[in-house]
Amino acid sequence: MSNIICKALDEGRRILLEPEAKTLCLQYSIPVPKFKVALNLEEAVRASEEIGFPVVVKIISRDIIHKSDAGCVKLNVENPEAVREAYKQVTENALKFYSKAKIEGVLVEEMLPRGIEVAVGGIKDVEFGPTVMFGLGGVFIEVLKDMSFRVAPISEDEAREMIREVKGFKLLQGYRGIKPVDLNVLAEILVKTSRLLLENPEINQLDFNPIICWNGNAKVADARIIIG
Ligand SMILES: Nc1ncnc2c1ncn2[C@@H]1O[C@H](COP(=O)(O)OP(=O)(O)OP(=O)(O)O)[C@@H](O)[C@H]1O
Ligand SMILES: [Mg+2]
Repeated sequence: MSNIICKALDEGRRILLEPEAKTLCLQYSIPVPKFKVALNLEEAVRASEEIGFPVVVKIISRDIIHKSDAGCVKLNVENPEAVREAYKQVTENALKFYSKAKIEGVLVEEMLPRGIEVAVGGIKDVEFGPTVMFGLGGVFIEVLKDMSFRVAPISEDEAREMIREVKGFKLLQGYRGIKPVDLNVLAEILVKTSRLLLENPEINQLDFNPIICWNGNAKVADARIIIG
């Protein structure tokens, strides 16, 4: 069992903290934004300088699942003074949201450029076991239920099929001056996610949403992994 999952289970947690989920991604070479965990203001400033501006500042707390609803995500933070301000705001807002929130630190992360958003998911099907999902982000999944599924493990060919299968596939081929998405990069993420699911049977549910795609790159901007 991965050390990260082991530690979370030991602490009685069912959800990995975002830096834990992203570290697990890195162990499977699933691309994520550069990130650092800061435990105080000065560490946050140093992290932002090492990562390079602009950065994203997010609260790390087991008690706050929807960070942006709680005012705990600051995007496009452009300089050290703004990092200090963002650090104070996300920690204050976390405690306003829930006064007993355990604050584990603050995540300082590379701000990804605008791009096309997709999502990769994982579920445990009662019959078939670990299953991967692909879809375009936001309303495509939530409202239109435009998703494709395959039982893990999947090959790169199967991953490419999954991508082509969604109704919104055309949007990945570029529009309004937005460059097409590199399908091989996405297919690799799907294959690696299927391995991650199979090799970590403690994972009940996984959500990489959004995955931001731009100029042939793709990185997981938010990762939620539910265990136990
Ligand atoms: N590193 C990043 N670069 C660019 N955009 C980002 C980055 N991280 C997050 N975002 C954007 O900010 C949104 C909110 O961040 P995140 O998903 O981490 O918080 P959340 O609490 O899960 O919010 P939500 O519940 O709205 O998904 C993301 O959906 C994404 O659009
Ligand atoms: Mg999110």
